[in-house]
Amino acid sequence: MYAQMVKTGVKALKSEAEMSDAERAFQARIDADLRIEPRDWMPDDYRRTLIRQISQHAHSEVVGMLPEGNWVTRAPSLKRKAILLAKIQDEGGHGLYLYSAAETLGITRDQMIEALHSGKAKYSSIFNYPTLTWADIGTIGWLVDGAAIMNQIPLQRCSYGPYARAMVRICKEESFHMRQGYDSLLALCRGTSEQKRMAQDALDRWWWPSLMMFGPPDDASVHSAQSMRWKIKIFSNDELRQRFVDQTVPQAEILGLTLPDPDLRWNEARGHYDFGAIDWEEFYRVLKGGGPCNRERLQARTSAWEEGRWVRDAALACAEKQVRRQAS
Ligand code: 3HC
Repeated sequence: MYAQMVKTGVKALKSEAEMSDAERAFQARIDADLRIEPRDWMPDDYRRTLIRQISQHAHSEVVGMLPEGNWVTRAPSLKRKAILLAKIQDEGGHGLYLYSAAETLGITRDQMIEALHSGKAKYSSIFNYPTLTWADIGTIGWLVDGAAIMNQIPLQRCSYGPYARAMVRICKEESFHMRQGYDSLLALCRGTSEQKRMAQDALDRWWWPSLMMFGPPDDASVHSAQSMRWKIKIFSNDELRQRFVDQTVPQAEILGLTLPDPDLRWNEARGHYDFGAIDWEEFYRVLKGGGPCNRERLQARTSAWEEGRWVRDAALACAEKQVRRQAS
């Protein structure tokens, strides 16, 4: 299946001759590192690509609140509970900045939400895995937020102004998220042998799905070539994945945990860690809805939307009343 996607999936780039004058001028602005703003002319595909990526990013932030939300009532201390609550609230905020950035491209919030609920829009594969123990919460902060930052720091320099600017604050907050996760895991690793075993078990389950967060390998990445030409993406999926592995190995050593990959070793010639084969069958299965929690996550989002309808209706009615009052 993976080989088939490699063969058929990747889109060809337009040659210079195939571009219109407007497209050539647009590309020249990108090449000169000028930002594109909402009122600027842009190719339809650039707009579509951004709407797809930013809205899916927003959905990931919001769906990502669910696995951690499961542990708010079970956090082991008041301090950990307060930190977890703050982190989850931050993720909700990230979703809001990102939905707002996507709205500048001409799509409405309702259309984006509808695409999520109907399964047309994706959200990060990582959030379709369950959080079985408290150690999963620390591991998510360390690995999942760590992978998110690796991907998102370059997005601060992406060509679309509202997206790049939204990423500045998001990255600052994600770095706090990663540090709190690492701190929580460090406490477990310095605790009892049972706590350390729990941390190792969480790492064993989250390591490979975290590597999948960066998307398919470059030769199977449908959008990378065009997104990189437009500087929506600055680095490829594989480049970021490699950086993440290189950054994480020494962190695992400090924790005294073993990354679950027998092929992981430093490659002196490359100046990077080599790592084992990723199970891309699993990745595509999760993308198609076959992960352990896909159904549960979408169900939680759609029922939150339905149950919150009265709040949206009340807020709208209140706003309309205020407008009417001001007018009279
Ligand atoms: N999960 C789900 N879908 C994924 C995926 C993943 N980990 N990786 C790739 N895909 C999807 C793509 O969306 C695309 O599907 P589509 O055509 O239906 O949209 C398809 O697989 C092919 O992948 P490509 O490599 O061609 O796609 P992209 O060029 O869009 O690259 C990406 C994928 C690297 C995830 C890119 O979209 C990106 O950088 N997005 C912004 C960052 C983001 O969305 N992060 C979510 C992480 S979680 C998070 O931020 C929450 C935080 O609190 C932890």
